[in-house]
Amino acid sequence: MKKPVIVTLPGDGIGEVVLREAVRVLDAAGFEADYVHGDIGWEYWCREGNPLPVRTIELLKKHKIALFGAITSKPNDEAKAALNPDLQGKGFVYSSPIVGLRQLFNLDICVRPCKSYKGNPLNFVRRGKDNTIDEPLVDVVIFRQNTECLYSGVEWTNPPAQVYQALMTHPKFKENFGDVPVDELSVSTRIFTRKATMRILVAAFEYAVKFGYDSVTLCEKPNVIRETSGLMWKLAKDIQKNSFPQIKLVNTNIDAQMMWLTKNPEDYGVIVAGNMFGDIASDAFAGLIGGLGFACSAQFSADGIAVFEPTHGSAPKYADYEVSIVNPIAMIESACMMLDYMGEKNISLKIRKAIAEVIEEGKVKTYDMMKMSGSAEVIKNGAASTSAMTDAIISRIKQ
Ligand code: NAI
Ligand code: MG
Repeated sequence: MKKPVIVTLPGDGIGEVVLREAVRVLDAAGFEADYVHGDIGWEYWCREGNPLPVRTIELLKKHKIALFGAITSKPNDEAKAALNPDLQGKGFVYSSPIVGLRQLFNLDICVRPCKSYKGNPLNFVRRGKDNTIDEPLVDVVIFRQNTECLYSGVEWTNPPAQVYQALMTHPKFKENFGDVPVDELSVSTRIFTRKATMRILVAAFEYAVKFGYDSVTLCEKPNVIRETSGLMWKLAKDIQKNSFPQIKLVNTNIDAQMMWLTKNPEDYGVIVAGNMFGDIASDAFAGLIGGLGFACSAQFSADGIAVFEPTHGSAPKYADYEVSIVNPIAMIESACMMLDYMGEKNISLKIRKAIAEVIEEGKVKTYDMMKMSGSAEVIKNGAASTSAMTDAIISRIKQ
């Protein structure tokens, strides 16, 4: 059988480090693939004035599946100053290549599983009855709409006359903001389309069925944000009734959900939300299972492009360490999501089991798991390096 081709996009800083480790684990677990490297990130901005070169876009178009590490973004003035002198003053403008990928390929579905590993010292604990310590095991998967909502970039300060006039046709705008000078107005629009909202909802329900979750929770605020959250809630009810009657549909408001986060996180399964509330919910739940060293994700487009990545960034302060200290698990978990997507569930199971065993045994821990602050000293103080953690996982896989 022909081997699948995976585009590897290491990017910057620790992105390169953790991606290399994930491929090592994939190899050890018996996953057979060809990897093709794609240029992306700061280096290509500085050298070519484009952090997302056209050749990389073409690679992803061709092969459709990518493992992505992380990139470094910097403010405009710093980006300009870092450009190769030959390119300076020629109108190059920096923009984040991961946001670029998202827009270019319309990666509108973002999936962020937050599952606690038994024995992870970073797991959330709460006070139980009679002052006992409870450690609820969280197993939540967040479906975040990835392209719309408040992040679509349709916004103005001092909106142009046509926009202002249109706003003034809304009675509530006129009543509450009608006497505000237009140059003192900032407006960011919250746009939901029926098509994209349907897609994220259906994806959430399908996932619940496929992976055995009994509920889907819509986490928005339809009682107040009636048009956009309201649309999502209405569509969710229709989809549940017509296509997924076996899955329970729950409605929570984002604010209340954040309050309940620490009360009963074990009660949630699949959570679905628009872009902003999905962003908030996924970071919040990730905090309960160990934070950035454990938070994996995947992004999908309607036409079959899939990008798998840890949610952490390039952590530049640790990038140049001779012995890397960062936790590779978020990246390895992202690779497991890729395996699930490709139908390689046996291999992903093997890898996740190995991670679970290493964590539960508790002998090999990266600095974050030891609650140390990051520095080159952590290794001397008993923390495992990035590659030592990977080695421990690989040796479990091979047992
Ligand atoms: P970051 O996620 O890179 O790092 C924040 C802190 O989290 C680190 O200093 C470290 O203490 C910890 N951390 C991150 N990954 C870890 C890991 N695997 N193991 C253990 N600890 C870990 O976020 P920051 O510092 O805000 O951004 C650094 C750069 O990364 C910026 O240029 C930013 O634009 C970029 N970034 C890129 C993202 C992406 O490529 N998707 C996402 C977030 C930030
Ligand atoms: Mg976020």
